[in-house]
Amino acid sequence: MYCCRKVTDDLFWVGANDRKLARFEGVYAVPRGMAYNSYLLMDEKTVLFDTADAAVAERFFENIAHVLGDRPLDYVVVHHMEPDHSATLGALLLRHPGAQIICNAKTAGLIRQFGLPAAADGAMIVKEGETFSTGKHTLSFINAPMVHWPEVMMTYETAEGILFSADAFGSFGALDGALFADEVDFDRDHLDEARRYYANIVGKYGPQVQNVLKKAAALDIRMLCPLHGFVWRSDIAKILEKYSLWSSYTPEEKGVVIATGSVYGHTDNAAEILSCMLREAGVRTVMYDLASVPAADVVAAVFRYSHLVVASATTNNGLFVKTEDFLHDLTAHNIQNRTVGIIENGSWAPVAGKLIRERLAGCKNMQVLESGVTIKSALGDAQRAELEALAAALKESME
Ligand code: FEO
Repeated sequence: MYCCRKVTDDLFWVGANDRKLARFEGVYAVPRGMAYNSYLLMDEKTVLFDTADAAVAERFFENIAHVLGDRPLDYVVVHHMEPDHSATLGALLLRHPGAQIICNAKTAGLIRQFGLPAAADGAMIVKEGETFSTGKHTLSFINAPMVHWPEVMMTYETAEGILFSADAFGSFGALDGALFADEVDFDRDHLDEARRYYANIVGKYGPQVQNVLKKAAALDIRMLCPLHGFVWRSDIAKILEKYSLWSSYTPEEKGVVIATGSVYGHTDNAAEILSCMLREAGVRTVMYDLASVPAADVVAAVFRYSHLVVASATTNNGLFVKTEDFLHDLTAHNIQNRTVGIIENGSWAPVAGKLIRERLAGCKNMQVLESGVTIKSALGDAQRAELEALAAALKESME
């Protein structure tokens, strides 16, 4: 049975939610599910903005059929060809053979690559700045390359100031009936998932997001309609400001993420003592055990806070494997502008500290503190002073 929501008088949310999905993109745990947003404009011409993931095809097509009633679908705007939005494009065109695709030239190439050459041949190819009237509404097209694939395009609806923003401004999590961000306590219940989504899905492409934010600043945006997560119709400046911080790799707040890769607990012990010292000094800390917390969650925390401490065991003359995974993920997402402290452990040949420095060397503006701690097996009494020195250096670097 259809399950839609009205967005404006002429615009309807016809997307669908998947609460059975274990891992988005095969990697990211989504315990609160995933929303695949699609929007249908009912003007003199009917226009669908993006299709949806194959897993939600049944509900998606029911929703379109309900909103269209006895009218045909005239156009489908394809903003992004990643299959979480395009996997049902072929099936849509079978159901609505009169519908014409509107997309840019790069998208047409991907439509061919994904096995729909005839649809690509018949597409209306648009360029940035071109407009298209559907009757009462005018659509203007904006390229947004690498947010988060090269072909990505956004559409700005000029009459009501609606930006169809593709993956940008999205979030992990299914929509539980609430469609608009102002229908929930976003900061309390959803900001963390929006950050985790940003850091892991779009985080690598900060400069490209900054380019889109510059384009957005020239528009009168009264509504943001992303492909995942909530629609924004109020407080739009709040999510734009978060994107400005995240995409410029600017911390949201002062605090220390302590990420520990500990085999038998001695490295973790040192990290926890450091965390106690920092807390006693009034510094906010958050600890993650890299062996049990997904790297994606820790990456998101690093996007939030100003400082990072990596505490790691040495194994096989290298980094503890979970520390290696985390640093790979962190640097792959282009992290910058953080102050870093290091605790290393190694019973006979500690090399973790050297390797952590090497892994972070390619990141821009990462200040690794000179004060570090080397543990051989377990922490000795004399080393409390080294931890105190590290805590003091971390605190001082925040002031
Ligand atoms: Fe939600 Fe890049 O796809």
